[in-house]
Amino acid sequence: MISSPPDTLQVARSVAELQQIRPTFAGERVALVPTMGALHEGHRSLFKLAAQHADRVVVSVFVNPLQFGPGEDYARYPRVIDHDLEVCAGAGVDLVFVPSVHDLYPPGRQVLIEAGQMGSVLEGAARPGHFDGVLTVVLKLFNLVRPDVAVFGEKDAQQLACIRRMVVDLNVTVDIIGAPIVREADGLALSSRNRYLTKAERHSALALSAALRAGARQTTVPTILDATRGYLSRAAQDDPSLRLDYVALVNPMSFAEVAADYVGEAVLAVAAHVGTTRLIDNFTVQLSPA
Ligand code: PAJ
Repeated sequence: MISSPPDTLQVARSVAELQQIRPTFAGERVALVPTMGALHEGHRSLFKLAAQHADRVVVSVFVNPLQFGPGEDYARYPRVIDHDLEVCAGAGVDLVFVPSVHDLYPPGRQVLIEAGQMGSVLEGAARPGHFDGVLTVVLKLFNLVRPDVAVFGEKDAQQLACIRRMVVDLNVTVDIIGAPIVREADGLALSSRNRYLTKAERHSALALSAALRAGARQTTVPTILDATRGYLSRAAQDDPSLRLDYVALVNPMSFAEVAADYVGEAVLAVAAHVGTTRLIDNFTVQLSPA
């Protein structure tokens, strides 16, 4: 049975309700953690980190239609708000903002944020318009909640990079904090989309983190890429439910592919389909001079 959240958790179910509650936080440092709900330990870790950087933690729960392409999982994306309120109440969140689609996108809207080149590679190539939709909703949430700081997961490393770029390019005065990826004990990165996986598919999904581990054991750009691709290609040969989308080694800020002689931190990113579910994962690797 789901019990109701404790009194300390406030819930704003519309922009109007948010605008009534927000002034009561005046003079306090406010953190925002944007989410699409179906909250798990990965999200919880963001809430905890947010609480370390602010007096008040605001969480938004909104499945943003603008960031889903035609044929993607917008309709079937899990919507479990009672569960989400429970998680927020147990994680010291002060306010949950749960707007409706009509409330955030009233008819007549035209203006969008464009993510540019870094939003059109990898995830952006597989999902055209995805990052424009993400940036548009994130900027709207920033304008509505007016946070001092916002926390995003490194799980979605390209999203984090695009948001960091947006706040620089558009002079948005919000500090962006990246949070490490939370994984299951067997390596699977937590994701709301893991709910779609059957038991067998969940097992197949372990190939993503295993491939990243294989890649991260190497020390040069070509060998890291070969080991990661090799692992996933072999796994896909033995497992018809697994289909590789991409493996890439990119600069964490620009998401441009790194050159063979690159030195410094890089993101090793993978995307694959497991059955009908598309999963992404990444590791940060350090490349040293030869
Ligand atoms: P969602 O997928 O719900 O993720 C919300 C936040 O949780 C993101 O910053 C994401 O990177 C982080 N997150 C997800 N899984 C994680 C994990 N295993 N470890 C650490 N952090 C994790 O990302 C979105 O929603 C949306 O695109 C959003 C930013 C809310 C805009 O609609």
